[in-house]
Amino acid sequence: MEIIHVSAECYPVAKVGGLGDVVGALPKYQAELGHVVKVVIPMYRTRFLYENQWELVHEGGQNLGPHWFHYSVIKEKTNKLGFDLYLIDINGLLDREKIYGYDDDTERFMAFQIAFCDWLSKWSHRPDVIHCHDHHTGLIPFMVKYCYAFNQQLAEVPTVFTIHNAQYQGWMSWDKYYYIPAYDSWKWGLLDWNHMINPLASAIRCAWKVTTVSNSYLGELHYSANGLEKLFEYEKGKSYGILNGIDTKIWNPQTDNYILKNYDRGMVEQGKRKNKKELCGQFDLDIDKPLIVFIGRLVGEKAADLLPEAISQSIYQHHGKANFLVLGSGDPNVEHQLDHMKKQFGGYFNSYIGYSESLSHQMYAGADFLLMPSRVEPCGLNQLYALRYGTVPMVRSVGGLQDTITDFGDPNGFGIRFNQPSVGDITYSVGRAIDLYQNKPEQYNWMRDHIMTLDHSWDKSAMQYIQLYESLKK
Ligand code: ADP
Ligand code: GLC
Repeated sequence: MEIIHVSAECYPVAKVGGLGDVVGALPKYQAELGHVVKVVIPMYRTRFLYENQWELVHEGGQNLGPHWFHYSVIKEKTNKLGFDLYLIDINGLLDREKIYGYDDDTERFMAFQIAFCDWLSKWSHRPDVIHCHDHHTGLIPFMVKYCYAFNQQLAEVPTVFTIHNAQYQGWMSWDKYYYIPAYDSWKWGLLDWNHMINPLASAIRCAWKVTTVSNSYLGELHYSANGLEKLFEYEKGKSYGILNGIDTKIWNPQTDNYILKNYDRGMVEQGKRKNKKELCGQFDLDIDKPLIVFIGRLVGEKAADLLPEAISQSIYQHHGKANFLVLGSGDPNVEHQLDHMKKQFGGYFNSYIGYSESLSHQMYAGADFLLMPSRVEPCGLNQLYALRYGTVPMVRSVGGLQDTITDFGDPNGFGIRFNQPSVGDITYSVGRAIDLYQNKPEQYNWMRDHIMTLDHSWDKSAMQYIQLYESLKK
């Protein structure tokens, strides 16, 4: 099959969170199954762009409302990522340092989607499926079906839409209707949700199949989907939960270049201790205490706002028996509090406010526990990386966390689970982690060994997506 993934992120070219990891890995695994796999993302000004060789494959022009824009499509020459990588360049709009966060993000991703459809409509053949990810690509299923400029060539191409996060929907006011290339005007309802143009809602209606990244999250969307609950209920017949995998070549403690000491299951004890020593040295923490870390976007979905209070409470209530390290960026308020706490709890707590791929790897390797108190977690990759590195996940039972982690209080359980995203539940779980670490070495060692045997590679899920695409063939 010929599969085209369209996304705003793709690791290692451009990544903000798990979307980047998924779009950097799933296509590779699909290509290994013998398919022709292409990934198309915007051309941002990232390091990857300057460090690699590109060839120009197409140039074209289209309109964004009254404004004509020129675009070009470039392809990475060596296929080094294991699939064909294409970047769409739109001068002045996409070629920026950050992926998101500009006032004109609506225009940027609208132009990207239009350019993508325009380019595809010029191909001499049709791909077997267009697989779109999240709301930045959510208007593509509508455009290929109903926009006159594209539908003659593309209306029959199956579209699959994967929701990585239904919190963000790409809403825009109807004032911007003229950005969308001319379409059957009586189809406007397929763009609308609550009197706004809603790309996520449009994709759910127009894509041939809709998937999300865990079964539990699919179920949760029926009662909690940031306003789209009814739509999910209505479209449940074409919706599926397919759990994310991880790229086991990149996330492998045996070969990971970011970590000081590589290790496997057999030497997890010594390996982790060396990495922990390095990490604790760097952040002024005590190597003999259990090290609990948080890695992620400092936003409400991740319950990052609870971290300052939960960590302070845990340090007081458990008499400083555990150490904490946080890596993340996001809400300036939370960033400020975590920064401030460094002085207040020096020797017990530290934080790195920012984004660091290398530090994240060192933390998965050097920590004893990884905390994820998420309010919403469609899948979550951090807990899967933690498992691979022998780090025990402490998770709130929600979404993908609930589907991948069991509690050590249950038979064969290998993690720590709690029910509420609350300071109380987090603090209580920290107590359980300390007890496990200090008083139940046999159980803790068994858990650490067991989690490293769990297989969360993409093999199975990549196959499930292929089966889904196959079901769309006429
Ligand atoms: P989400 O996509 O909602 O942010 P996931 O758990 O799916 O959550 O994936 C998060 C990914 O982003 C992981 O690869 C994690 O290591 C990475 N990550 C998040 N924040 C940071 C950060 N500040 N520095 C480095 N990596 C980060
Ligand atoms: C989203 C979700 C996260 C998921 C990731 C990749 O950003 O918040 O749970 O793992 O996408 O699918």
